[in-house]
Amino acid sequence: MSTTFQLDTSTSRATPTPAPMKRLTVPAIRARKSAEPLVMLTAYTVRTAQILDPHCDMLLVGDSLGQVIYGLPSTVPVTLEMMCAHGAAVVRGSYHSVVIIDMPFGSYEGSPEQAFASAARILKETGAAAVKLEGGAAMAPTVKFLSERGIPVMAHIGLTPQAVNVLGGYGARGKSQAEHARILDDAKAVTEAGAFALLVEGVLEPLAIAITQSVDVPTIGIGASAHCDGQVLVTEDMLGLFERTPRFVKRYAEMADFIEHAVTAYAAEVRARAFPAPEQTYQPQTASRS
Ligand code: KIV
Repeated sequence: MSTTFQLDTSTSRATPTPAPMKRLTVPAIRARKSAEPLVMLTAYTVRTAQILDPHCDMLLVGDSLGQVIYGLPSTVPVTLEMMCAHGAAVVRGSYHSVVIIDMPFGSYEGSPEQAFASAARILKETGAAAVKLEGGAAMAPTVKFLSERGIPVMAHIGLTPQAVNVLGGYGARGKSQAEHARILDDAKAVTEAGAFALLVEGVLEPLAIAITQSVDVPTIGIGASAHCDGQVLVTEDMLGLFERTPRFVKRYAEMADFIEHAVTAYAAEVRARAFPAPEQTYQPQTASRS
């Protein structure tokens, strides 16, 4: 049965019918280590959240919205304001998944106190349950500081896109023995510091296996093989909205073609004065006879 939504204009909350199950919690996600694989997708808007929510365990309001929604060249320019606005929309559109919001570049690296202020703002303004931040051993004290103060943290290691200016690109990590060992140490450092889950991006399969076997929290992979405890993709990538598909993405639909087809038909009908037709046109009421 499909879900319908009624908008409560006083709270801007979309109330679903039928009522969905209770929202999952961070401890429930944490407990899924080595169990049924966890399903996570990105969402940035209310309608997308509504559609994805029943099928996912977690919705990630990723800072990839910088490129996907705003056409920015990287995630570096993304702001706290953007993350809060989109995060609140995704929370309003979801009832089942744990919503996790990316901490944008520059909002947490300075100190654990800076990270706490930014993360607290994100949770207060959005109603989300957790934040995600990029970085390994260097961020472990911050992960500990936030976790001990009531802010659940998903740590993101391996390929960390906010560090593109240091890394020089988005290639897979863990190719040398030294890099393999360093990323494995990162995984242990942030999970021992209290991260409830670990997002592992763009690493060779043997490293993904080693990380997943070495930590006691779920690993969520993107470009990190099928050996992680769960998977995440950028929704617009898996829906085929962009021309270029990264090697680790499977296109489950061809949304760009679908939209192109609909817009071509609309444009042709407008130009032919075939749209709007009588069904879409308001006419004066005919006077009723007394
Ligand atoms: O910002 C993002 O979308 C991410 C991906 C790794 C899913 O962090």
